[in-house]
Amino acid sequence: MAAPHEVRVILQDFGKPDSHTIGVYEAGGGYKALKKILVEEKDKWTPDAIIEEVKKSNLRGRGGAGFPTGLKWSFLPKGNDKPKYVVCNADESEPGTFKDRYLLEELPHGMIEGMIIAGLALNSNHGFIYLRGEFYLGWQRVEAAIKEAYAKGYLGENILGSGKTFHLATFRGAGAYICGEETALLESLEGKRGHPRLKPPFPAVKGLYGCPTTVNNVETFAAVPHIILKGGDWYAKLGVGDPKSGGTKLFSVSGHVKNPGVYEVPLGLPLKKLIYETCGGLREGRKLKAVVPGGSSTPILTADEAENATLDYEGMAKLGTMLGSGGLIVLDDSTDIVEFTYRIAYFYAHESCGQCTPCREGSRWVQDVLARVRAHDAQSEDVDTLLSFTENMGNGTTICPFADAVVMGVTPIVKKFRPEFEAYLQRTEAVPSGT
Ligand SMILES: Cc1cc2nc3c(=O)[nH]c(=O)nc-3n(C[C@H](O)[C@H](O)[C@H](O)COP(=O)(O)O)c2cc1C
Repeated sequence: MAAPHEVRVILQDFGKPDSHTIGVYEAGGGYKALKKILVEEKDKWTPDAIIEEVKKSNLRGRGGAGFPTGLKWSFLPKGNDKPKYVVCNADESEPGTFKDRYLLEELPHGMIEGMIIAGLALNSNHGFIYLRGEFYLGWQRVEAAIKEAYAKGYLGENILGSGKTFHLATFRGAGAYICGEETALLESLEGKRGHPRLKPPFPAVKGLYGCPTTVNNVETFAAVPHIILKGGDWYAKLGVGDPKSGGTKLFSVSGHVKNPGVYEVPLGLPLKKLIYETCGGLREGRKLKAVVPGGSSTPILTADEAENATLDYEGMAKLGTMLGSGGLIVLDDSTDIVEFTYRIAYFYAHESCGQCTPCREGSRWVQDVLARVRAHDAQSEDVDTLLSFTENMGNGTTICPFADAVVMGVTPIVKKFRPEFEAYLQRTEAVPSGT
């Protein structure tokens, strides 16, 4: 059952028995968008027409950066001299983010149909789904769904008698967060170590095997069939905030709310409504302390900042943060913010791929200083030292934005909650256990 403020588009079959099977997907209108493009209105739906409809929808990439999807697709060269690839980023590993996992396990056909439509828009015959290795059930369900789609003639040669071809295969990662970064993902998909590439050239020009490639998130692809079926304008208007943020968005809400989970709400919904109405509010007797709005690498909001925040790309930018992947972490006043920050820093130090010195060394230093604070073994100038070296970590000093993610995830917490870090330096009680 939908929670207050939910508008279920992508999640329309969520919770139904066997929602992952093609029968349930087709019963709810699944693969109708593909039929519309290839059979019913085949003269209308040129590749450019598909891209224009996606542009109209104001769909922005749901993997974190929020780049407009139609625009990204329009960057792929039109000629046919090289193969083109459609790649789905299903590596989801950002702490706090767990929405794609549900799509893979419960609703894989939406993503598959979206990828086939992307293939038609980009004149591509091949797609790959790069899955986080730990998503074993998701991988099994996606594999089964691909087989179902081949059996029904939605994948393969001569799709629905149209003469069009699209093949789809899965690839399982080996548990590295950096392989969610699109160029590291492509390296890994080519069988190499998952180290990010320098951009430009961007994947649209030189991606998989040096060929034009689009890399999009699971949720991004899953929105596409609905846009084709009901129209880009319809989708855009589902958003209730800034018009540039069209449609609905999945939020994976964790932390101190009564009903954590995955919710689909219109972009632009006030953050407070999501926390207090959709998610049932905070635990009894507790007050809001902070919210991490879009996964661990998005700058934290204090309770005061969260008061009037809206869940769209522009609303978050106004507050100096990002909507990111929609991994919303709610922290109440019982949270030990130093411990919370240390755990984020531990994750990043562990996951830095090591290719660039500022990131490899910097993420470890951040962890080390926070470990000293946490152990009541730091000097007050250590907090300033941490803030000063994080200034040299991101900002274009590295190949990919991983170092920026460390800085954005950690320094706003230290700056906004500094008295709590200072208080740790005064105390002498036992060191917290575990990492
Ligand atoms: C360190 C790092 C990790 C990332 N992890 C993911 C991920 O797990 N899933 C994802 O879709 N995008 C991830 N991204 C963003 C991708 O690089 C890319 O922007 C995205 O897949 C594009 O798809 P979209 O336009 O549909 O959002 C990550 C980026 C960075 C820098």
